[in-house]
Order: sequence, then structure tokens, then C-alpha cells
Amino acid sequence: MFELLQPSPPDKILSLIDLFRGDPRPHKIDLGVGVYRDSAGRTPVMRAVREAERRLYETEDTKAYLGPGGDPAYCGSIAKLVLGDDAPVDRLASAQTPGGAGALRILAALIARARPQASVWLPDPTWVNHHAIFSDAGLATRVYPYFDPVGSCVQLEAMLAGLHDAAPGDVVLLHGCCHNPTGASLAEDDWERVCELVLARGLVPFVDLAYQGFGDGLDEDAHAVRLFARRLPEMLVAVSSCKNFSIYRERTGCAFVLADTAARAGIARGQLLTCARIAYSMPPDHGGSLVRIILQDPALSAQWREELGTMRDRIVALRSELARVFAEHSNSNRYDFLRRHRGMFSLIGTTAAQVERLRREHAIYMVDDGRVNIAGLQEGQVESFVSAVVAVSRV
Ligand code: LMR
Repeated sequence: MFELLQPSPPDKILSLIDLFRGDPRPHKIDLGVGVYRDSAGRTPVMRAVREAERRLYETEDTKAYLGPGGDPAYCGSIAKLVLGDDAPVDRLASAQTPGGAGALRILAALIARARPQASVWLPDPTWVNHHAIFSDAGLATRVYPYFDPVGSCVQLEAMLAGLHDAAPGDVVLLHGCCHNPTGASLAEDDWERVCELVLARGLVPFVDLAYQGFGDGLDEDAHAVRLFARRLPEMLVAVSSCKNFSIYRERTGCAFVLADTAARAGIARGQLLTCARIAYSMPPDHGGSLVRIILQDPALSAQWREELGTMRDRIVALRSELARVFAEHSNSNRYDFLRRHRGMFSLIGTTAAQVERLRREHAIYMVDDGRVNIAGLQEGQVESFVSAVVAVSRV
């Protein structure tokens, strides 16, 4: 049966995990997969999560099925966290999912059921798995301009012009904050313009919110999705709780559908649950329970916010330090964008060949498109990282 099967190309991001593990050099630096690390290079369990685990252990009295939509209380807490206190809950359908990727997957399946002829417009560039997820759901994908590699910023006019080619009813995927892989985000005024265009062209925004809290703050990072919820009749949202609760391997996320009426939201929810049932039957519960316990307890919630704030501050400080050291070593201000970018990632402009040299000659691991996970750097590694990048960038 397998004689015609061709080898799968390695995943550009996840293949770095094994490559890094297999490197015996003690000074190796892992800036690959998007996982937050502290200044000692660890990804510790958050204290709020530990406490939630203790409470869960003491109070959980069954492991019986919850159903394809997971835990409604988890979804309700995430709706509030993402959409704020005035979330239009009557028009909102939700389902707990295995991570943000699970949310993307079942929402893609829902689009294929609702509007199979729709194209999904993806930013150029975007998270590598976006293309695969939508194509695998049978949907056509198109790209719109997003990143200007010369200015290392969003090219808003080109983006809006590109989206003018989208047909009414097409879906536009937008990173709600902390763009992966570029790190370049839209300003609040820019989001207004995107919102106006989406409304005028009759497009459906699909917001991928994987890093809420890693950019400027929990509320600040939810600006776009809240704006859309206020102004637009329809929207899809994929949320990850894996990153901001540091529960990566618990695979915890949430899919939201905002419909123009409550009745349509109800139908969309039924279809969404069918998509979940077909794909994985039901989501795992553990991570969702932890998040629910934290978000429903004001003291625990405050502790979690503080811990997340510490992570964000570390990334912002590292960005500043990197920009400063790059300016020293490169004798230019060309890396100042690192200060303006937000979230774990930035594209630093290295070519695939340079990334390969960084790996071979300097034991530095990053994605071959030049994406760096800033949160993977330890403070003491900034100098050696910068001098290695500057060395391989010399012609
Ligand atoms: C990343 O972009 O590194 C993360 O979202 C991990 C992944 O699944 O690719």
C-alpha cells in the first residue's frame, strides 16, 4: 500500500527540535520553535498553572467525556479574555480545540462546508502551517502583500491594494497580534482601514490570535479582534492558550464563530462540532480546565497576568538590547526594527544560506526564512548571536 508514497518534506519549524537536540556543542542556541524561555533558557510551568493543577487534582472527580465542543466554561472565559466584557455572546459560537492549530483546522473545515468556493487570503509571509491547513481542507489559498523586507515593516498600502482583488465572501486571515513570522504589526489606525475594507468588500475576517499578551498587553493585543466584533457582521477566530499559559503540550485552544444572527451562530456551532467530531472527536480537557480555574479566580488570574507580564517585559527588553548590540556591531541602524516589532518573532533578513552557516559554524538554530524566536535568547548570548549574524551577513 505504501509503494507510491513519497517522503514528506520536513516541517521547517518542528524539524529544528530534533536537529538542535542532536547537536553536542555546549554553546548551541535554540531560536527555532516558538516557545517562550526564561533568562535561564527554561520553559517553566507558570506558578498560577501549578496552583490550578493542584486544585484540579483535589477537586476533579471524573474523567468522563465532555463532548466535541469541550468545556463551555473554558470557552466562556476565553471569549471574555479575547473579546472583552461586551463580547456579543448572543451571536457567538465556540468550541474548545486541541491548540490554536486545532481551531484553525476545524474552522477551515467549517469554511469548506459553508462556502467551498471561497478563497482564503493569507499574508505573505505567514506561519508555514497556514497554507497546509487550508489547502488540506480543500480550500483555495491566495496571498496578499504584508511585509516590506527593506523597511522590516507592514506594507499597508500594498496589503490593502492586494485585498481589493478578493471576491466578496472570501476569507482574509489576519494575525491578531505578534505576527508570525515577521514580528511586524499593524497600528490601531491601520486596523481601522483593514476593517473598513473588509466591510466594504464583503470579506470575512479570520483572526489567528496565538500570542495574546506577548505584544503590548492582553487588552492591547486584542484590539483588532474586538474592533471587528464591534463593527462586522461575521468573523472567525482561532485562539491558542498554549503560549500565554505556557501549556504548550496540553494542546489547548478555542474556535469562535461570530455570525450575523443568533440563529446562524447556533447552526454554525452545530456544524463546527460535526467538524470536530470528524477530525478528533473531542478535545483534551486538562489544559482547558487549568485555564478555566485560573480565569475564574481573581487572585490566580492576577498572578497569571503578572507572570505573563514578566515574559512580555523580558522579550521587550531583549529586543531593545538586541537592537543596541546590532547597532554597535553592524555600525548601522538597520536593526532598529527589532525595537518596534512585537511578540516572540522577528524576521531578521538572513538568507537560507546564511541561516545554514549560522547552524553549521555557530550552532545557532533558527528557521531558514530568517525567523528568530527572540524569547529563546538568554541575555548572555546576545553578543555572540549578533556577532555571528553580522559575520555571516558580510559578503
Ligand atoms: C511556531 O511558529 O514556532 C509555533 O507556532 C510552533 C509551531 O507549531 O509551528
